[in-house]
Amino acid sequence: MGEVNTPLPVKDIDHVEFFVGNAKQAAEYYRLLFGFDLIGYAGPETGIRDQASYLLQQGHIRFVLTTPLTPDSEAARKIHQHGDGVYDIALRVDDAEKVYAEAVRRGAPSVYEPREVRDAEGAMKKAAIQTYGDTIHSLVEKNGYEGPLLPGFRPLDKKGGNQFLKAIDHIVGNVEDGKMNNWAEFYSSVFGFDNFITFDDKDISTEYSALRSKVMASENKRIKFPINEPAPGKKKSQIQEYIEFNRGAGVQHVALITGDIISAIHDLRARGVEFLEVPDTYYETLTERVGEIKEDIEELRKLKILVDRDEDGYLLQLFTKPVEDRPTLFFEVIQRRGCQGFGKGNFKALFESIEREQSRRGNL
Ligand code: FE2
Repeated sequence: MGEVNTPLPVKDIDHVEFFVGNAKQAAEYYRLLFGFDLIGYAGPETGIRDQASYLLQQGHIRFVLTTPLTPDSEAARKIHQHGDGVYDIALRVDDAEKVYAEAVRRGAPSVYEPREVRDAEGAMKKAAIQTYGDTIHSLVEKNGYEGPLLPGFRPLDKKGGNQFLKAIDHIVGNVEDGKMNNWAEFYSSVFGFDNFITFDDKDISTEYSALRSKVMASENKRIKFPINEPAPGKKKSQIQEYIEFNRGAGVQHVALITGDIISAIHDLRARGVEFLEVPDTYYETLTERVGEIKEDIEELRKLKILVDRDEDGYLLQLFTKPVEDRPTLFFEVIQRRGCQGFGKGNFKALFESIEREQSRRGNL
């Protein structure tokens, strides 16, 4: 087993960058359906020749959508392989050079060395290391940078109108069969993250398919990365379906935290976000499973919100359908009332719903 190192001083997720086939249209998708404000643009008009990027924000959540303008760029090659999806989970640090040097010393593959990115608002320092699949972690040092955006972006002011989504709760990676422990060890040996929770295939299985998951967390618990791998079942695991369509490991879902999931889901449904279907029967036994909760069960049933409880409290959650035609990346909306778990009690109900979708695609 790999060594567990002292934690690297990574503070939080700064932003998530997606490579997409058409960033102009994707930006409007996240603005109109998820209610993000479109706050920045970078591209040929701002001196960047080979790609265009849009910066979206809601609460503390920042997404960058980037599209290549030429067929032979790195972004174009990655989109060709994987379709639209997460490229960079950018982590905020105080000293990019130090964190980068230590991560590389501990065995993380380098993507690029520390470099300064400058505009009229000042300078930021960035470096990047490779993680699972074609995904990277850039290390973002903001010290001294005054602008509200990222260097090179010019401001846009197109409101999205949703304020219910506040921050990123966790980001889940799907990795190949047998690789979960390697990647869990990567996060403990490179970043010094702890194994927060482990789920085995007995926790997360239905009659047909199963997965295993290890949740790796930073010392301050602001960064939580569950790592999933497929487990054998009677039929194909949904993780295996992801791996096949994504052509390898990658980000499966980004969980967005809210303080008011009822209003959040009400709003997102009205805007046209599609969520996984939950059978009405799920609500018949809900009180038995989770006990007393503050929310009105009838309201939860109408909005199809899931609930799970552990010894510390409960959580409410719901998952979107994949946001691309490939069955790959999706989003989760989550509200925590004490519970620090990930909805283990919902996995079975949820899996059966995912399998119905998988079966409709002919992939079960
Ligand atoms: Fe999740």
